[in-house]
Amino acid sequence: MAPAARAGVKRSADEVDSQDDFTSVYGSRYAIQDLPSADIPDESMPPEIAYRMIKDELSLDNNPKLNLASFVSTYMEKEAEDLMMEAMSKNFIDFEEYPQTAEIHNRCANMIANLFHAPQNTAIGTSSVGSSEAIMLGVLAMKRRWKQRRQAEGKSTDNPNIIMSSAVQVCWEKAARYFEIEEKYVNCTRTRFVIDPKEAVDMCDENTIGIVAILGTTYTGAYEDVKAISDLLVERKSDVPIHVDAASGGFVAPFVVPDLQWDFRVERVVSINVSGHKYGLVYPGVGWVVWRSSEYLPKDLIFNINYLGAEQSSFTLNFSKGASQVIGQYYQLIRLGKAGYRHIMCNLTKTADYLADALREIGFVVMSEGHGKSLPLVAFRFPGRDEGEIEDKDFDEFALAQYLRARGWVIPAYTMAPETEQMKMMRIVVREDFSKSRCELLIKDIKLCCQHLEQDSEQFIKRLQEHMGEHITAGRKIRDPMSEAKEAFKNEQHSLQGKTGKSHAIC
Ligand SMILES: Cc1ncc(COP(=O)(O)O)c(C=O)c1O
Repeated sequence: MAPAARAGVKRSADEVDSQDDFTSVYGSRYAIQDLPSADIPDESMPPEIAYRMIKDELSLDNNPKLNLASFVSTYMEKEAEDLMMEAMSKNFIDFEEYPQTAEIHNRCANMIANLFHAPQNTAIGTSSVGSSEAIMLGVLAMKRRWKQRRQAEGKSTDNPNIIMSSAVQVCWEKAARYFEIEEKYVNCTRTRFVIDPKEAVDMCDENTIGIVAILGTTYTGAYEDVKAISDLLVERKSDVPIHVDAASGGFVAPFVVPDLQWDFRVERVVSINVSGHKYGLVYPGVGWVVWRSSEYLPKDLIFNINYLGAEQSSFTLNFSKGASQVIGQYYQLIRLGKAGYRHIMCNLTKTADYLADALREIGFVVMSEGHGKSLPLVAFRFPGRDEGEIEDKDFDEFALAQYLRARGWVIPAYTMAPETEQMKMMRIVVREDFSKSRCELLIKDIKLCCQHLEQDSEQFIKRLQEHMGEHITAGRKIRDPMSEAKEAFKNEQHSLQGKTGKSHAIC
């Protein structure tokens, strides 16, 4: 303590060395300094101060419960959280050190393979960081298998292609680009938001490594017709395989529409991915991929490693990762059981249907099918010219998204896939913690925002949108040491977004 303070002499605020007088976080010198942002600070800071300062900064983030843009779980029970916290320091890949974690992983993979009706004793699966990694692995396996067959036939392996709907999630564009595979798109139309099975099969040629079918598209939640694609392939005696992207639907359809044929019951399905962190009900960081049999996972993609103490097989893009998410997945699978998942998924389906009806009543066009025939989400848009459009309307779905954002709700507006005439839409994902009463609050706020949009002038709406875009949402200027470098990547023209304006989660 400074001598003057010890003697009880009063000092002005400028004279007080806050650290000398440290009694609390906000009495310390850190409370009147900027948090470090460019260089690692020279000195350390006390843990309680670092914790409080970071927590305070993060309080500016949106409330995850109001984020209806994302499929990713925002709720787990306390017991699950405790287990996951306890496993935080375990490196999942270290099977020798953590054999029970490896065992639990295998149990999860078995349960998920069985849920998808994989043939007993032949299926093989692994966890991943999410569906994106799972899809990369699925694509690599299809490409390698195609290549091996072509090589055995003495044919060119120069131009592999993959067929998918233009409503694919961006990770498919990435997978195709990263692994140098030509993307062949079956475009959606203004009235069809899913793949057309015949068009997809017509596109196949000798270089096609596979067809992608999505069980729950990101835009409207629609289930693509996996069986129709498979039946056509069988009819034409084509051996092109199908990979099902069941990122969201893999944990919904088996409980809500168990008779829907989309999984390994369908002849040509060779691999399926699912996100554990979406309707698998685990916090972000876990996905799964399952192959019908090892025949579809070429051996030379698997690496046997033994430097961590035991012989083990590895087929992942990353090596190290935390074990918590796999343990969280096991908790959910055994805690909820099939009955628990069924109750939750059926409740979500009912809530989504209720919300869809309310939005129709307000005057929106609902684009998602609902009633269990699609994911529990509501995709909607303002009516067009021929559908009773509000007269002299000065706003669109993006403006409504911003108005709702001002109320705390994160509900993105999108531009649909190509060839849908730049159709704009919004999407509300109904997740486990979106109860009926929260749904009522949202409906009230949507009505209120629509009233305001009708009353407010075009100029005001534009100004508010600019303000939200620049200062409130992710587009705001954040100090970014890489910003100049990133300028070079702006306005790319290679992706579906760059080429056609299709957008992902802009709000
Ligand atoms: C259909 C679909 N596939 C893949 C993904 C990517 O999944 P993840 O976020 O688990 O990597 C998503 C994400 O929303 C999706 O909706």
